[in-house]
Amino acid sequence: MGRKAKFAIVSVIYVFFAFLAPCSSLLLCRMEDSINTHDSIRAIVWRDDGLQLLDQRYLPQQQTYLHLSDVAAVAAAIRDMVVRGAPAIGIAAAYGVVLAVRDRRARSAATWLDGIDQDFDVLAASRPTAVNLFWALRRMRAALARVDGRDPVPGLLAEARRIHEEDIAANRKMGELGAALIDPRCSVLTHCNTGSLATGGYGTALGVIRSAYSQGRIDRVFADETRPWLQGARLTAWELLRDAIPVTLIVDGAAPYLMAQGRIGWVITGADRIAANGDVANKIGTYAAAVAAHHHGVRFMVVAPSSTVDMSLASGAEIPIETRAAAEILACGGQPVAADGADAWNPVFDITPAALIDAIVTEHGVIRAPNRAVMESVLG
Ligand code: MRU
Repeated sequence: MGRKAKFAIVSVIYVFFAFLAPCSSLLLCRMEDSINTHDSIRAIVWRDDGLQLLDQRYLPQQQTYLHLSDVAAVAAAIRDMVVRGAPAIGIAAAYGVVLAVRDRRARSAATWLDGIDQDFDVLAASRPTAVNLFWALRRMRAALARVDGRDPVPGLLAEARRIHEEDIAANRKMGELGAALIDPRCSVLTHCNTGSLATGGYGTALGVIRSAYSQGRIDRVFADETRPWLQGARLTAWELLRDAIPVTLIVDGAAPYLMAQGRIGWVITGADRIAANGDVANKIGTYAAAVAAHHHGVRFMVVAPSSTVDMSLASGAEIPIETRAAAEILACGGQPVAADGADAWNPVFDITPAALIDAIVTEHGVIRAPNRAVMESVLG
């Protein structure tokens, strides 16, 4: 090879390493940044041998983590809404099992297994509707059955971490699948909070919204404030603002009027439990939004991982619906708001019939016009 040719080759290599390689790694960093800026919140963290939960009761005004070191504290945190959202409840309970087994073994290495059923029962009694709780407890029981005389804690912790990581991966997948259904420059309505706070990270319905926004398919999100816990006003608005996704809050009753004005392309919600025929239990107010969407020809999407599907229940009529204290309605932020002596009924979930749902998005695929046969073909 002549000297000129050698010089040309060396020059090309030099230019690549001096300029192009740093540029390409910069580009990769930018891509990673944009992924992380859309997934920067972790509400559940295993650290220092205990469970840290971002206390969602005080968001967005206070961002504090509670450190929990025993199973009773985890069950109380689920019951009292420190951690909420179906997948997040399941993940927290899985770590709760790790704490339960660790405590019992510390008290007696010989008899630790004797009382463990009580700990599972305490966790299972914390909230009734989100099936992810019972699904996660089943997985932890199976992990416990595999330990075979060895110290069970490392295996249980690994299983809890797997449940957590698989949830984030499912959310990413559903984000892609759900976003593909949305036409460019659409405005959407969401209800309650289904984001990083309600899951292992990224979110279900909010994951689809995050993915669709980053692809230019969504240009504005309307969020129902979601009485009485205000998950929409406090949590969804906070998550979306952190990601610089345009969000407009409305009172729950404004949703049908917004749809009547033709301003919504899709309603996108999560789920707490989905029956075998595609009926969906989700935050109270979801059914009203679905009826209004049907009336106005607005499409309705439910986004939920397969851990939210309960194929053992034939229809939504069999889903247990949690009723919480009347005090949650009679007061707001600790201040009484109702007439003294007024009675109140506080069911916190409702059932949206499958007939009102255009698509259920799971990590295994999209179920259009859900019914038992399509549910079975996608989810088995
Ligand atoms: O009472 P919450 O706040 O636990 O209710 C949460 C919801 O209803 C969510 O929509 C549902 O859990 C899906 S979260 C990904």
